[in-house]
Amino acid sequence: MAPQIGIIGGTGVYNPQLLSDVKEKVVTNLYGEVKLALGTYRGIEVVFMTRHGAGHSVPPHLVNYRANIWALKELGVERILATAAVGSLNEVMEPGHFVLVDQFLDFTKNRQNTFYDGGEMGVVHTDMTNPYCPHLREVLAESAQDLNITVHKTGTYVCAEGPRFETPAEIKMYRMLGGDLVGMTSVPEVTLAREAGICYATVAMVTNFAAGISPRELTHQEVVETMKANGENLNKLLMKTVETIPEERRCRCQN
Ligand code: HPA
Repeated sequence: MAPQIGIIGGTGVYNPQLLSDVKEKVVTNLYGEVKLALGTYRGIEVVFMTRHGAGHSVPPHLVNYRANIWALKELGVERILATAAVGSLNEVMEPGHFVLVDQFLDFTKNRQNTFYDGGEMGVVHTDMTNPYCPHLREVLAESAQDLNITVHKTGTYVCAEGPRFETPAEIKMYRMLGGDLVGMTSVPEVTLAREAGICYATVAMVTNFAAGISPRELTHQEVVETMKANGENLNKLLMKTVETIPEERRCRCQN
């Protein structure tokens, strides 16, 4: 059987730790080459991919999002669970907290952000009313409740271009626009998944208060250390969700 579930590990999530019978694979498609790990969790086939490559070697603006999503599509993946380290703009979303993102604001500048570049693929304008799969988010929320892990059930993710962190003035602007969290990778990953008809949800982990809100200057090390400290709960939440996602898709992501 084909793996129906894909996990995209973001910063701090580099290994398919909880999978068994892991086989590494390199697949090539129209958009590039992708390294994956295929494995199982309690009999369920799962594909794992690290967004930033081995040893966090690919910066957010150079991730080959199209190759990654297309590779998952070609393997038969119908659901993607992604992790993301984020800064917080919202006092109630504190470092260490999980957020089931439901909206985004796109401030990226230089990314290949569609499969539909005209020509053979045509021109398609994809609906983004619910960019993150409502059904997957619901299952994640139920899993969190069962595990006694506190999550914020909604949050607006501001996707910055990076790889630099933001200025306090930018953060102030994002807050005024309704952003709760800031990161550098959710767009175009989420929009490409939707173009490919794949359900997609992000478990964002707050690693720091954003620039100008945090009393300190930001470092990547702070981000990685907070991810590490809460990694166990993140893994538990992902795997409980893998185990409980019903096979039937009760959403409109594939339309
Ligand atoms: N800004 C952007 N990306 C991030 C941050 C941040 O403060 N923290 C973790 N990823």
